[in-house]
Amino acid sequence: MRTTFPFPFASSVVLLALLLIAMASSLLVSSKSGEALGQANEAIGRKSTLPVIHRRSSSEERRNNERVTFIQSKKLPSGNQAPLFKKVSLPVYSGDRFKTGNYVVNISLGSQEKVLTVALDTGSDLTWTRCARSDSSPPDQIFDPSQSSSYKNVSFNSDDCRNIISGTSDRPQDKSSTCYYGNEYADKSYTHGFFAKETLTLSSPTDKKKDFRFGCGQEIKGQFFGQVAGIMGLGRDNISIVKQTAAKYGGNFSYCLPAKEGSHGFLILGRDEGPPASFTEMLKLPNKSYYGIKLVAISVDEKPLPISKDVFQNAGFVIDSGTVITRLPKTAYDELQKAFIKAMISHGYQQVVPPRNSSLKICYDKRKIKTIPSVTFTFGGDVKVNLTKRNILYTVGKCECLAFRGNDNDSSLGIYGNQQQLTFEVIHDLPGNQIGFVHRRC
Ligand SMILES: *[C@@H]1O[C@H](CO)[C@@H](O)[C@H](O)[C@H]1NC(C)=O
Ligand SMILES: *[C@@H]1O[C@H](CO)[C@@H](O)[C@H](O)[C@H]1NC(C)=O
Ligand SMILES: *[C@@H]1O[C@H](CO)[C@@H](O)[C@H](O)[C@H]1NC(C)=O
Ligand SMILES: *[C@@H]1O[C@H](CO)[C@@H](O)[C@H](O)[C@H]1NC(C)=O
Ligand SMILES: *[C@@H]1O[C@H](CO)[C@@H](O)[C@H](O)[C@H]1NC(C)=O
Ligand SMILES: *[C@@H]1O[C@H](CO)[C@@H](O)[C@H](O)[C@H]1NC(C)=O
Ligand SMILES: *[C@@H]1O[C@H](CO)[C@@H](O)[C@H](O)[C@H]1NC(C)=O
Ligand SMILES: *[C@@H]1O[C@H](CO)[C@@H](O)[C@H](O)[C@H]1NC(C)=O
Repeated sequence: MRTTFPFPFASSVVLLALLLIAMASSLLVSSKSGEALGQANEAIGRKSTLPVIHRRSSSEERRNNERVTFIQSKKLPSGNQAPLFKKVSLPVYSGDRFKTGNYVVNISLGSQEKVLTVALDTGSDLTWTRCARSDSSPPDQIFDPSQSSSYKNVSFNSDDCRNIISGTSDRPQDKSSTCYYGNEYADKSYTHGFFAKETLTLSSPTDKKKDFRFGCGQEIKGQFFGQVAGIMGLGRDNISIVKQTAAKYGGNFSYCLPAKEGSHGFLILGRDEGPPASFTEMLKLPNKSYYGIKLVAISVDEKPLPISKDVFQNAGFVIDSGTVITRLPKTAYDELQKAFIKAMISHGYQQVVPPRNSSLKICYDKRKIKTIPSVTFTFGGDVKVNLTKRNILYTVGKCECLAFRGNDNDSSLGIYGNQQQLTFEVIHDLPGNQIGFVHRRC
């Protein structure tokens, strides 16, 4: 299923085609069982109501005090409140230059610190880079292990190899005793190659991770990756970069995706000391490393749409940096479209014929658009995300079009895509099991 999607720079047909695919598909592998997801979300969302019992014998009390003293003496040397974890911040750029609808960061690999531009993906776990040259591979975005003294293959007969199965889509293969991984994405794009260990450098020489487990891609297929070197997997599985660096950065990460070409946002591994955010519970989907959240309501001009809560909860909803346009259950999208058109009329805007090829159909004349109706998403815990104009409308040629899409029905997984995340800092607090939003205007 490859629906076309128009971009302003439609002059390059190849570029257009690449971007269309990036827009239409997601890195995230879509769910097969909507029913199961809903039930699991319910179960996870339920809070424990067991009373906490505050009764301890005096010896228990003493042991407890000793333990507290012990921990404090370890963690707080000589009154110097050294933070437990470090943090690292990397600039995030739009991937347009690399022909992807995703957002990119630079990382370095190997003893020579080869700089590679990789796309951020919270919907997958494996970090991988191109290691083999091919006709279609981008210049200068290939990692050559023979140039690095710190590269090590992972052997097929090892726990490291056996453990990748939960973070990749395929069972690893034995290739001359080395571990050969396979990872396939939602649009059938894939990468196969050697699972290996290498020194990863993020930003400065102090932000090094030795023996970082990654995919050294030999077979890479699918226009989805555009011209980037590979993918940074930010999912919650063991092999994700977040988990592999958790001992140093604490397992938190956050990002702000920039709204404009040329400007940059950030990716922080570790705790951000930014402005206070509103947090909603992070939900787990069965056998998936996706970040689930509970979508409760959508409002247009402060009026909640008449959508039953079941519609949002049946299929489940995840947040993903690797999907461009948010996918809503059909019923929810239909209501949003109806209410938005009506509110636009009351703001004095008439729809125009969408540009040819546009998969977004609710379009307005770009030159006329000034203030538009507000659109607010409410997540579990009454977290309200008041979208900006840039999150609501997508520029298609001379038009601004409503930037949401409906699923075919109400039982496919909903996805909160990156168009709706632009300029917000999105905090993934894995230890605290919560996702935070705060508007940062990046
Ligand atoms: C990131 O790497 C690309 C090459 O892959 C380079 O053109 C660009 O200047 C780098 N950006 C930063 C911020 O270092
Ligand atoms: C890694 O394994 C591949 C395939 O067996 C081999 O060609 C390559 O030389 C190995 N590299 C190292 C550094 O062992
Ligand atoms: C995570 O990885 C470690 C070793 O790399 C392994 O021992 C452990 O079982 C893994 N945990 C899960 C949940 O896969
Ligand atoms: C993770 O982020 C949350 C929210 O900002 C913060 O309260 C918590 O201390 C952080 N945890 C770590 C281990 O950095
Ligand atoms: C999840 O995985 C386990 C074992 O890996 C399997 O038994 C179970 O059926 C899976 N559940 C779903 C919902 O796919
Ligand atoms: C989409 O637009 C391109 C050129 O911009 C054109 O070649 C193609 O025929 C169009 N496809 C459809 C289905 O209109
Ligand atoms: C949401 O944003 C709109 C403008 O974009 C503003 O008019 C409205 O007051 C905001 N609502 C809230 C609850 O912040
Ligand atoms: C819902 O739509 C998806 C994707 O088009 C399809 O695979 C699935 O079978 C549909 N489910 C129902 C219940 O119609």
